[in-house]
Amino acid sequence: MGRAEAAAMIPGLALLWAAGLGDATPSLPRLRLSFQELQAWHGLRTFRLERTCCYEALLVDEERGRLFVGAENHVASLSLDNISKRAKKLAWPAPVEWREECNWAGKDIGTECMNFVKLLHAYNHTHLLACGTGAFH
Ligand SMILES: *[C@@H]1O[C@H](CO)[C@@H](O)[C@H](O)[C@H]1NC(C)=O
Ligand SMILES: *[C@@H]1O[C@H](CO)[C@@H](O)[C@H](O)[C@H]1NC(C)=O
Repeated sequence: MGRAEAAAMIPGLALLWAAGLGDATPSLPRLRLSFQELQAWHGLRTFRLERTCCYEALLVDEERGRLFVGAENHVASLSLDNISKRAKKLAWPAPVEWREECNWAGKDIGTECMNFVKLLHAYNHTHLLACGTGAFH
């Protein structure tokens, strides 16, 4: 995945929900919208975290009304009621040594040697499990 614009998370989420609705047999989506159509949709809210990209892990916690997002060097907690409200965010960069090792191995320190959070999982009522690439560590 390239450097996704933050708003691209919304259609991703819509697809996720749509995928959970039907039965197991593959079928055509009932509704297909372009990103522009989604943007024009009444009530659409967008979310953007500064200086990050790659919103690859999403976890909905309906009980607490939160959407947890794993991204480049960050985990964020958003309000499901209003995704545009200020996000609670946690910086989780890879340690400098790991980034340097990654760079020595020939990767780009400015784009590839980051901690890309790939997985979020509910652990218990107060904790999440998060898994990141740790600059290829
Ligand atoms: C959502 O939050 C944003 C930012 O705090 C605010 O400007 C907007 O009015 C809120 N929208 C609703 C529907 O509450
Ligand atoms: C959740 O797990 C963590 C780590 O084991 C523990 O410290 C915490 O007390 C647990 N929370 C609850 C509500 O059990």
